[in-house]
Amino acid sequence: MRDPRRVAILISGRGSNMRALVEQARNYEVALVASNKPAAAGLDWARDRGLTTWSLDSKGSEKEAYDRTLSAALEAHDIGTIALAGFMRILSPWFVGQWSGRIVNIHPSLLPKYRGLDTHARALHAGDSLAGCSVHLVTEELDAGAVLGQAQVPILADDTAGSLEQRVLAAEHRLYPRILNEFVLR
Ligand code: GRF
Repeated sequence: MRDPRRVAILISGRGSNMRALVEQARNYEVALVASNKPAAAGLDWARDRGLTTWSLDSKGSEKEAYDRTLSAALEAHDIGTIALAGFMRILSPWFVGQWSGRIVNIHPSLLPKYRGLDTHARALHAGDSLAGCSVHLVTEELDAGAVLGQAQVPILADDTAGSLEQRVLAAEHRLYPRILNEFVLR
């Protein structure tokens, strides 16, 4: 059994949640920042910070073959918990089975509402008065695993998808580290 406090953060882009997870780590160590996009901006920040990084372009790879390579890299770094943070790739059933119960994700909606993409536009379109974000366990079904914690963000009358996204993102940066600090001690 690997130490759950050895965390890998998986990103595909700017990595603002990754930064929050690094800066607010109390009970875990960020042992690896990994990306399926070698040009992800978040990787530069992680390298500058002296963190260990790994990247391999997933474009054109067969899904499970890629995931087996990724999994081997995580094992090589003795990872116990995987935190997805803007990782824009659906993991294969093989990978999810291999790391079952040890993968968490942050999603910008109050799950079970608005799984998938464009959550803020969908919340506005529905006329919701409350938006937010959820940290959940990753299972084979997209954005459907057990919710570990949520933060609510009121929707304002003049909100656009962009303005709402900014406020939800700020809430994500507080929620995700708090939940991960608890999760690794379970
Ligand atoms: C966040 O909104 C997160 O909820 C979603 O993807 C976005 C990633 O942003 N899963 P960042 O790369 O963490 O800045």
